[in-house]
Amino acid sequence: MTKKEKKVNPLWGGRFDSGMNDLAQSFSASIDIDKRLFEADIKGSIAYAEVLKDAKLINASELSKIKKGLSKILKEIQEDKFHWDPALEDVHMNIESRLVKIAGAAAKKIHTGRSRNDQVATDLRIFLRDKIADLLNLLTLLQKSIVRKAEENSETIMPGFTHLQIAQPVTFGHHLMAWYEMLSRDYSRLQDASERMSVLPLGSAALSGTRFHINRELLKKKLGFKEISRNSMDAVSDRDFVLELASALSIVGIHLSRISEEIVIWSSSQFNYVELSHEVCTGSSIMPQKKNPDMAELIRGGSSKTIANLMGLLALMKNLPLTYNRDLQDDKEYIFSSIDFSEDSLALLTVLINGMEPNKTKMKQDCFQGQITATDLADYLVEKNMPFRQAHEVVGKIVALAESKDLQIFELELSELRKFSKLIQEDVKDYLDPQKTILSRKQTGGTAPSQVKKEIKKAKLTLERRK
Ligand code: ARG
Repeated sequence: MTKKEKKVNPLWGGRFDSGMNDLAQSFSASIDIDKRLFEADIKGSIAYAEVLKDAKLINASELSKIKKGLSKILKEIQEDKFHWDPALEDVHMNIESRLVKIAGAAAKKIHTGRSRNDQVATDLRIFLRDKIADLLNLLTLLQKSIVRKAEENSETIMPGFTHLQIAQPVTFGHHLMAWYEMLSRDYSRLQDASERMSVLPLGSAALSGTRFHINRELLKKKLGFKEISRNSMDAVSDRDFVLELASALSIVGIHLSRISEEIVIWSSSQFNYVELSHEVCTGSSIMPQKKNPDMAELIRGGSSKTIANLMGLLALMKNLPLTYNRDLQDDKEYIFSSIDFSEDSLALLTVLINGMEPNKTKMKQDCFQGQITATDLADYLVEKNMPFRQAHEVVGKIVALAESKDLQIFELELSELRKFSKLIQEDVKDYLDPQKTILSRKQTGGTAPSQVKKEIKKAKLTLERRK
């Protein structure tokens, strides 16, 4: 057997007199990663074959052979009966050469006017678009579980923090609804990314377009895209849609990480604000008493991947001249990693939050320390016509006195308070009691239970409308 007969790639055999060096072949094969694109690739090829028929480049019987062949291949892959050959580099060539075996001469026409350059850009857009739809569903499920917890806790009082120091009383429901807001922005960023991704590159061929009468408008409709690309050179080299998704997912990643961090803090024995369900915790191999929040920690740690993947993609793209360069093949590993992490951690965090029970007693207890209502006392003086800066000063002094006695300001006698300002009267009690002060934060966005309930109602409507 000659070298050529033995190894040369049948899809470009004409020009070559030898097959590839073994290392070069395994170095360049991407099949282990890009085989995930098989459904998108087959879908794209079926639509493309239909358009070839429309352009009279293949006849009805050839189209039928191609479509049958592609359906058979789809089934083979789904049933794990397909033989993936690394010598055929990638998902596109594996599927095409199998098609030639099944459909014979007809299959040899499918690549007319098409290049793997516009093919892979199209496949990736189809794949990512479908993945975004899955991610949007997972986000909605997570938000639903957050809103459910918030509804159960719209009156549960807890300290709010700045600098991780007790700051002002809030409700647990209000805190949870802050998570809801973060995730709502993620939702809309993913929707935007999906919208901008909906541009069809197919028909751009290798880089300059094609001489054949490929009806791109028809292709666009068949493949469910909103637009067709307007410049073939840009179309085969653009990966902004991957960058945008990676960027949106890195923000999802840091949100999930921040939420997880709060869960870790709250479930610590010092805070003891929440109890986590056993199904998402692990024990220690040496310390029998331990119940560790490992899933929250793994989400916090794992989210680094979404940042690393975005950085990897940016670095991959930054020096590429137009048009297609083989470097682009590496985009998939990064974006698949971000997608896989996001899918798993969105689902896991939903389980975590469903099973997270607040320790209302401890949360409330902590509202009675840290001079938590000092701002309200200043507000009280402002309502009695003292300028805010002066009120701040007066309350500062009251706090200093209370601290020197190891007391909270609401434990001081009225007579002691009046030494600092005669404006202070009996009615000050309502401003010092954490449970009463939260009732006053009634403006839009505030923590008053009545206000939180309004936001929860709105959120539930939004989530319902998302089909
Ligand atoms: N596997 C390749 C990729 O993902 C497909 C395109 C190959 N094109 C080429 N001109 N070698 O980028």
